Order: sequence, then structure tokens, then C-alpha cells
Amino acid sequence: MGNRVPITVPGIEEYAQAHTTADPDHLLGLAAETRESCDRPVMMVGPVEARFLQFFLYAQQPRRVLEIGTFTGYSALSMAEALPDGGHIDTCELSEKHAEIARRHIAASKYAYSVTVHVGPALETIRRLPGPYDFILLDADQAHFPDYLDPLLDRLSDGGFLAVDNVLWDGAVLDEADQQDSTRGVRLLNDTVASRPDLTCVMLTIRDGIMLIRRNRGGV
Ligand SMILES: C[S@@+](CC[C@H](N)C(=O)[O-])C[C@H]1O[C@@H](n2cnc3c(N)ncnc32)[C@H](O)[C@@H]1O
Repeated sequence: MGNRVPITVPGIEEYAQAHTTADPDHLLGLAAETRESCDRPVMMVGPVEARFLQFFLYAQQPRRVLEIGTFTGYSALSMAEALPDGGHIDTCELSEKHAEIARRHIAASKYAYSVTVHVGPALETIRRLPGPYDFILLDADQAHFPDYLDPLLDRLSDGGFLAVDNVLWDGAVLDEADQQDSTRGVRLLNDTVASRPDLTCVMLTIRDGIMLIRRNRGGV
């Protein structure tokens, strides 16, 4: 990531989290193991975004969900809680180590049959996962964000939603001097989505930014 700028005034994120329903025990255990055994545990979406995703999924009732970027399974297990009966999540992860932790926690949870972890580069994995998916979360591989856009839109069901995490990239999107691949990837995705007449989007400043995208009915 590039030069960081504060996205919210100091203390606001902590205040929001303090006034958000806390994680259940199985997510607290997963988060604790992640903090102990993994680099960059901050990659977990955290309680505020997890509750937000759950509210969204409770309202949408998606039968099929696709996630790019499992990490240790925090967001997948959070979303699993909000699925309707028979709902299922396919989640894609590059790292064997991350996938092992995720699979273990998923297997020990009551969502063992609701979540499948696929290991490998996600752009290759999704060739085997044609969809359609009612909800897709893109939360990995920021340098290649633009490469995911059309393959993921192609996998959306009619009326489905694509959510992209980290669209503010710790504020680096505003710093034109930051030309790292990841920052450029995030900027290009944001600019492309916002300018496409066939899409409607909203960028929310929750945590590191999350963009919700849907295809317009009838194309435009
Ligand atoms: C930001 S973390 C995901 C966090 C997760 N959604 C959560 O809230 O716990 C991104 C994850 O994507 C994985 N990743 C990076 N590049 C990838 C790729 N090309 N394909 C699949 N996974 C990838 C990383 O190993 C990392 O575990």
C-alpha cells in the first residue's frame, strides 16, 4: 500500500466498532488464531464490515455466494451466518497456509457444509466456477482488480450484487504520486466502474471502503 492518510477522524472507527454487535465465539477464536499465526491480520474485514455484510445478505437472501480472498475464513464464516437454508459460499484463496486455517475453522463450525474453500490463483479458479452467483465479494489481488471485473460480472445472477473491498486503499487512491501496482489497480477499477453506463455503484467509506455494484436492468 502507498502513503496512508486517515480516512476517518481518530477514534471514529473504534466508536463504530464499540456500537456494533460483537463477533460470536467461533469468529473471536478464528480472529485470535489469525492474529497469532498470520502476517497482516488486519486483512480480516473486522466486525463492522462483517455485520454490514451480514445485514446485506440477510436482506438479499442469496443462494450462491462467491468470495475472492478467503484469508483465514473470517468473512466467509460471517457471511455463512446470514445465508438462507441451502445457501452456499465458494471462496477462493491462493495461500495453502491461509486455506488450511480457514478449512479447519469452517469444519469446526455449524457452516461446514455451507462453505467450500478453493485453493489457487482466483482468476484461474473461477474458470471452474461459472455461477451464477447472487452475491460476489472481491477482497484480494488489488493489482489485478480490473482483470476481475468482467469475469465476476459475467458470473452474477440477474439482480445479483458485486461488492469490492479496499476501494479506498488506505487513502492511497488520492495520492497521485503513489503509482504502485496495487494502488493503480484499485484506482482503475474504481474509475472504470463509476464510468460504465451499464453499472450502478455506490462507494461506502466503511473501514477501507467497500463498493457495491449492480448491472442495470436492460443493459444501460
Ligand atoms: C484481504 S485478504 C482476505 C480477507 C478475508 N476476506 C477476511 O475478511 O478474512 C486477501 C487474501 O487473498 C489471498 N490472495 C491474494 N492473491 C490472490 C489470488 N490471486 N487468488 C486468490 N487469493 C489471493 C491472500 O493470500 C489473502 O489471504
